[in-house]
Amino acid sequence: MKIVHDPAEIQRIADSLRCLGKRVGVVPTMGYLHDGHASLMRIARSSSDAVISTIFVNPLQFAPTEDFSRYPRDLERDTAIARAAGTDYLFTPAEGDLYPNDYFTQVYVDNLSSLLEGKFRPAHFRGVTTIVAKLFNLTKPHLAVFGQKDIQQLVIVKKMVKDLNFDVEIVTAPIVREPDGLAMSSRNVYLTEAERKESTVLNRSLRQAEADIRSGEKNPGIILGKMREMISAQPSARIDYVAISDPATLLDVPVLKPPSEVIVSLAVRFGSTRLIDNTIVAVP
Ligand code: PAJ
Repeated sequence: MKIVHDPAEIQRIADSLRCLGKRVGVVPTMGYLHDGHASLMRIARSSSDAVISTIFVNPLQFAPTEDFSRYPRDLERDTAIARAAGTDYLFTPAEGDLYPNDYFTQVYVDNLSSLLEGKFRPAHFRGVTTIVAKLFNLTKPHLAVFGQKDIQQLVIVKKMVKDLNFDVEIVTAPIVREPDGLAMSSRNVYLTEAERKESTVLNRSLRQAEADIRSGEKNPGIILGKMREMISAQPSARIDYVAISDPATLLDVPVLKPPSEVIVSLAVRFGSTRLIDNTIVAVP
């Protein structure tokens, strides 16, 4: 595996891979890799000739009050994980090389970016779509793998690709969980021991919602009410939102109607740590 810091160099590498007729798969990450990230790299590995993984903690997608400066970083460990998961090129640019002082351009996907997470993190998705567009231009992928863990990000990136005619196939990777059900996240290390125990309620509340939907409950208010009750029973849990949304528009679903799929998603804070999780459910 080759480590590349220079944007111009990764662009040259991507160019020559394409010229050689290689199918290029890209996995964008912010590092502090776990098995969720590794699963994306393995998916890219299985459907590409060359895998480029990127590690860049993107300042643009953090609000000034958020955890940019304390976001966990461990390049040595990340290098070993990326190599073991089949990455050929690990692109880790410096902040000043992607955002020089005279950097002005941003990419914004309207409507979708202001819902759900967007209500709590108004500038977040503008930062995500801007960096993903830049990374696509630097790595020229045929396919890029994103996790369902960040379902709104996935929907927004797919929309950006369609609207801006990026010639990239977006592949969805399933959520990888800890044995007790907590979705893997680089931010889980922030949790205290007590919060870590309480956080398993998130997965349990999603499984409860799935069971309710599968048994025919059509009223989102009832399903979400039960989820809120379960989550609020944990002393340190503070709910930002629980929602049942349309997978295309991300708007609240007023009544569950078959045949369709809905996204049940949530964001909950445990102390100073904000966790998100979701499930996609078919309405019977
Ligand atoms: P990051 O949070 O590092 O996540 C990188 C990718 O890994 C995303 O596609 C995310 O959905 C996926 N991922 C994270 N946890 C996962 C899990 N438990 N199971 C499966 N996939 C998981 O998402 C970002 O970085 C950034 O916003 C980025 C797209 C890199 C732009 O800066």
